[in-house]
Amino acid sequence: MNVEDAADQLYRGKVILAPMVRAGTLPFRALALRYGADTVFTEEVIDRRVVNAVRTENPVLGTVDYVEKRGKKGIATPFQTCPALERGRLVYQIGTGDATNALRAAQHVERDVAAVDINMGCPKRFSLQGGMGAALLKQPQVAADIVGTLRRNLSVPVSVKIRLLETPGETVEFARRMEKAGACALSVHVRKVGDTPASKARWEELRPVVDAVNIPVIANGDVYTRADMAGIKALSGCSSVMLARPALLNCSIFKPDGHVLPLKEVIQQYLRECFRYDSVYQNAKYTVMEMLTKRRHPDHLKESISLGLPGGAPGMREVTPAKTLGQLARLWDVGADFDAETVRRRKRAEQ
Ligand code: FNR
Repeated sequence: MNVEDAADQLYRGKVILAPMVRAGTLPFRALALRYGADTVFTEEVIDRRVVNAVRTENPVLGTVDYVEKRGKKGIATPFQTCPALERGRLVYQIGTGDATNALRAAQHVERDVAAVDINMGCPKRFSLQGGMGAALLKQPQVAADIVGTLRRNLSVPVSVKIRLLETPGETVEFARRMEKAGACALSVHVRKVGDTPASKARWEELRPVVDAVNIPVIANGDVYTRADMAGIKALSGCSSVMLARPALLNCSIFKPDGHVLPLKEVIQQYLRECFRYDSVYQNAKYTVMEMLTKRRHPDHLKESISLGLPGGAPGMREVTPAKTLGQLARLWDVGADFDAETVRRRKRAEQ
């Protein structure tokens, strides 16, 4: 299959889980896929982080783990995937400001991912100082060099994720440039670099970008319901939609029938994924806490957002002191599942 066809399979007519640092690790991606997401993005991984990690097949978990030895700090796993679940549906997002480093990172993981995406939208100081994320919007030559280098040297498609630039004309020009450089798809977070996450997404500014390029354009920003998916598609003509905070709020938004499940059930299911993939408790706890807060959501929606937890369900106060996956499990009434998974894993390891 050529890369354009491969990109169409990932990016046309799809509902996509957005990249999210810390939250977008394997258990949350697995949850999104099992509910019905078509394509899932990894969290952004900075280019240099993965190149020193050793690719290890983990027969006990059924995963491929990229493991990094960090001296006295023990080991870290900057990237983990479950091929049986994610093959053909996983986009690996790189944080980079340099074509050579980006290529090294991409080639290192190429056989385990369906596409590689470059983060060109992150406005955080760490990214900007490193010439990464939204810094690339101001450096179109560097951005084009990264995309072109990956396109020429990889067997999988390359996509980019951007924000809106200052004017519609500038966004269109940048999008065209990325397409010309070899990008097979373009995700647009429809906010500008100076906009806060609390501000309303600018859905109405996407249409000119969609009209200007031939590659699939994925709309991202404030898509909270099935009606929003249809709304942003009608307004912009985009190929696909991408969800970040709405997926954290209730990941069952990916169910194709639109019947969202109670949050307690979603959190329990998420924790089962954490047991299955033997997550570190810090990551599980962070993600559960993100599910339990309205803090990050746009101001104009905060009133209408319900966390949908029954009385007596644990809240932040109960989750905060948890120090193990087992404690989280018992808090959310899935202690028996945690114990069963631990036994199953031990038996598999002994085989
Ligand atoms: C993000 N976002 C983000 N974007 C990106 O390109 N790479 C990343 O690693 C992250 N990390 C991240 C973490 C968390 C916790 C949040 C909430 C967001 C931005 C995200 O992908 C998306 O563009 C915005 O959140 C807007 O979409 P929603 O949230 O309105 O669907």
